[in-house]
Formats: sequence, C-alpha cells, structure tokens
Amino acid sequence: MSETKVYLNGEYLPLADAKVSVLDRGFLFGDGVYEVIPVYSGNIFRVQEHLRRLNNSLDDIRLDNPHSSEEWLTIFEPFLDKSKDQSIYLQITRGVASKRDHAFPEQVKPTVFVMCSDIKPFEGKFTGIKAITLDDTRWQLCNIKAITLLANILLRQEAIDEGCAEAILIKQGYVTEGAASNVFVVIDGVLMTPLNDGAILPGITRDVILELAEKQQIPCSEQVIALEALNAASEIWVTSSTREIIPVVELDGRVIGDGKPGPLFTQMDALLQAEKQAYR
Ligand code: PDD
Repeated sequence: MSETKVYLNGEYLPLADAKVSVLDRGFLFGDGVYEVIPVYSGNIFRVQEHLRRLNNSLDDIRLDNPHSSEEWLTIFEPFLDKSKDQSIYLQITRGVASKRDHAFPEQVKPTVFVMCSDIKPFEGKFTGIKAITLDDTRWQLCNIKAITLLANILLRQEAIDEGCAEAILIKQGYVTEGAASNVFVVIDGVLMTPLNDGAILPGITRDVILELAEKQQIPCSEQVIALEALNAASEIWVTSSTREIIPVVELDGRVIGDGKPGPLFTQMDALLQAEKQAYR
C-alpha cells in the first residue's frame, strides 16, 4: 500500500478517513481486545499463534471472532511489504451501541480495525536498558490482551519519568511481567520466566524463547520468581513482538551483571534472528 491506509470494518481507507463513532464501546469502556504481530520481509511471524491468542482473548471477553484465520490472512495481505519489517496492529471492540450501558448490547456488530507500521531494531537492544520495579497495580485477568491499558500506561510512564525504558512489575513479592513485555532472568546459568498463570500475558516471543532454549538444551524453567531472585540475577531481559529481546543492564539504579548485555542474551538473540530468517 503506497499511501498510508488502514482497514476498518471491511474497507481500506486513508488514515484520516477512518472514523469510529463516539458510542463505540472501545472508546467508552475500553471494551475490546487487540494483537500486535511482527512481519519480517512480508512474512507474518507466528501468525497462527497470534490468532490463537486472539481467539482466547475474545472467548474470555465473550465476543465471537468476526473472522476465520483465512479471512484474517486475507485482510492482512495488502499491508505486507517484502522490503521491510513491519508490525500489524489489530483491534476488535464490542461495537457501537445506541446508548452507553455497561451491559453487553444486543445484536451489535464488532468494530474491526487493522493498521500496520514499520519496525526498526529497538536501540536499547545493543546497549541494554534501565528498568525499575513497580507494584503491579493491574487487574486479575492479565492473560487477556485487552485494549484497556490504563494501568500499563501509567506504569510505563512512571518508568520513563525515572529515566528508564521499562517497568518490571511485582505482585505480592513476585515478578509478573513488564508494563508491555514479558520478563526473563538468568540465575546460576538457568534461564527463568514467570509461570503463565493468568497474571501475565502469554507472550508469543516468550514462547519462542522457551522453544529455542529447549531445542538448544539451554537449562530453562517457568517458575515463580521472587523479587530477591530478580535482584540476584546475572541477566534480566524483557521481551515483546516489537522490541524482541531487550537486556536490562540497570535495575532500580543497580548494575546487572557487568552492566552490558550478557552472554546468554547474545546467544538467544542470535537464535531468535535465525528463527526470523527462517520466515523470510
Ligand atoms: N505488548 N506482556 C504485556 C503486558 C504486553 O503488552 C506484551 C506485548 C507482552 C509480550 O507479548 P508478545 O511477545 O506476544 O508481543 C507481554 C505489545 C507489543 C503492545 O502492547 O504493543
């Protein structure tokens, strides 16, 4: 697509012409779910896994998926550009009701929105980033990729205000995830990530890393990680589809390891780049 276009309810429109009613439940209540899917040289990375997670999010908010997997792929097709890396953002809300009411409206069509942006490697990947720990103030259904992100936004902004790139969230003394990422730590050579127990988003990048670690026989485990264990880690990473794996080199003002991206990060990043290449 030459000029920037977006997809809205069956049409591809110039960004400026894509309009949604102020009665849309996404606007009024944050009543919707979303996905962010990376695309490498025109190939959509782990698309079935992202569409499966979308289905789970929709089931959890009791909204039918308006499209089959094949239909989603057809919708994505015009956005794909072989000459670059991109990310697809898709959002489904419960639609436009005739009045504002918390209860689900009857016979309302969901609003379906898709846009695509270019992605470039996140610069913090090469130097490592600073992070802070913050109390996880979010709700209990963090496995749902809900558009209702106010807590995440406030937490990320608090990190930025402190000169950090990400907040690592702590719930009752244990690590959950980042404001917009999953968390991995390396302790005594073992790669660890918190359990997928509803308190975190089941990240697709997280799954890819666990799969690659297993294939390479890198010792790894999904387990509870106490704040004290986080503080004892020789490496800390945050992971997401748009930023991939980002090493944390300073946490709460304390240097992690030797203050540079660690050796297991370097190894895992190389494995992930090779996995991406396989999709090209
Ligand atoms: N967010 N946890 C949270 C709270 C997230 O928002 C994200 C990603 C992840 C990582 O999931 P994945 O590896 O599937 O991207 C974990 C996206 C990128 C966003 O909101 O823009």
